[in-house]
Amino acid sequence: MTILTESEIEKMRVAGRLAASVLEMIGEYVQPGTSTEDLDQRCHEFITNDLASIPAPLNYGGKNGQPPFPKSICTSVNHVVCHGIPSDSKVLKSGDIVNIDVTVIKDGFHGDTSKMFFVGKPTVLAKRLVQVTQDCMYRGIETVRDGSTLGDIGYAIQEYAERNRFSVVREFCGHGIGRIFHDDPQVLHYGYKNTGQRLTAGMAFTIEPMINAGRRQIRLLPDQWTVVTKDHKLSAQWEHTILVTETGAEILTLRDEEQRTRFTDASA
Ligand code: MF3
Ligand code: CO
Ligand code: CO
Repeated sequence: MTILTESEIEKMRVAGRLAASVLEMIGEYVQPGTSTEDLDQRCHEFITNDLASIPAPLNYGGKNGQPPFPKSICTSVNHVVCHGIPSDSKVLKSGDIVNIDVTVIKDGFHGDTSKMFFVGKPTVLAKRLVQVTQDCMYRGIETVRDGSTLGDIGYAIQEYAERNRFSVVREFCGHGIGRIFHDDPQVLHYGYKNTGQRLTAGMAFTIEPMINAGRRQIRLLPDQWTVVTKDHKLSAQWEHTILVTETGAEILTLRDEEQRTRFTDASA
């Protein structure tokens, strides 16, 4: 895997900060009655005009019978696990949960981050799932340092999700990131301590657990992108792009609102 130089790290910091700023911008527009298409358009305009950056998902992929992704962000509502395609026909209503996943390219480098939003008033289950999933991500991040392993990350996430009687999606994972959107290594959200690749300062990758309220099994819709839970129960996801440092991890996509909520513990 790539070890970034100091000047590449600086570019990743810029890309990460810009990606985070998109999530900060869009929050006030996540309201009952808004379509996911409207959210996509606002993010597209902001990324291209205000940030002078490129939305990486737009026209991404598209091989082996899968069409290129047609929009600039992913919007995954309720039982949609990931890669939801923004659409005029998907109008948000009170009680929904929605993941907005943003990836920007600035000066050749990628920043990739997502967060969950509540539409109107959340149910008790939705609140608990969203909080546990965010804490899974933070617990994964907290294991990261020069010399720790990828298995340490996966173990921390899986252990906390299952302790809370939720399940971890296995088919999608975090990824190395830099000049390439989805690079080596695969960062699994399950596994065993002290196994897998050892981490070194200067590596950058994402941690982006998808946690289901019910069973872990998923299904791909005929559009070849949208991933849903087989049992149609809720799914949540949070994502940060991180850099391995000598002493820990630097969160490249940190938002202002996160400074104090990092160590919330929702366990029973
Ligand atoms: N942002 C997603 C990730 O975290 C990837 C989306 S690919 C797309 O890796 F084509 F669906 F946009
Ligand atoms: Co990602
Ligand atoms: Co993403």
